[in-house]
Amino acid sequence: MTSKPVDAYTIEVMEEKHLDDVVAIENMSHTNPWKLEAFKHELSQNPFSRPRVALTKGAIQNVAGYCVLWVVFEHAHIQNIAVHPHHRRRHLARLLLRAAVAEARDAGAETVALETRRSNDAAQKLYLTEGFSLVGERRGYYSRPSEDAVQFERILSPAVDERVANPDDPAGRAGRAGTPRPRS
Ligand SMILES: CC(C)(COP(=O)(O)OP(=O)(O)OC[C@H]1O[C@@H](n2cnc3c(N)ncnc32)[C@H](O)[C@@H]1OP(=O)(O)O)[C@@H](O)C(=O)NCCC(=O)NCCS
Repeated sequence: MTSKPVDAYTIEVMEEKHLDDVVAIENMSHTNPWKLEAFKHELSQNPFSRPRVALTKGAIQNVAGYCVLWVVFEHAHIQNIAVHPHHRRRHLARLLLRAAVAEARDAGAETVALETRRSNDAAQKLYLTEGFSLVGERRGYYSRPSEDAVQFERILSPAVDERVANPDDPAGRAGRAGTPRPRS
């Protein structure tokens, strides 16, 4: 029996030893990437931050992706999520996102928010299939290049959990189809 691709990864707390790989992935993933110092700040200076890495299983554990979650009392926010290009389309971002949502819930958060570039169709599709709803936009939020942000939020409620767990349920489909998709 073959294992599912996501079974090949484990989610761990991000540590200093991971940062060279994390920054390399960051540089491959974003046009205006975080610098090493930004990740170091998350590890040691920011009490709200919960940075996690996805590692390949086996004798050599490579960093395949990461997610930086902030939990600020009842509000959680995903600050950064990326997957190494060689590991994309294996549902690793979905795994990272679900781990972040679970961690936010366990920490007492009621909502998880995030934003992405308006042009980032891959990320938006991921968020919409993980129970996030489009809640707004921010004009010119991003630089290098300048672009609007679209904002998403997931309510941490049993109803949304059910919708994510059972995407073929008619109520779930109706819910997602009713979510407007912004286009300039
Ligand atoms: C966006 C990103 C994190 C997705 O990572 P990934 O591990 O490849 O995503 P997954 O395999 O978990 O995909 C989950 C779902 O998202 C959607 N998706 C992901 N990549 C997609 C793509 N290139 N095109 C269309 N849909 C895509 C699909 O619905 C997919 O489900 P499916 O494979 O069953 O169709 C990755 O492409 C990345 O690191 N991009 C650069 C950084 C970035 O954009 N981060 C997010 C915004 S801050």
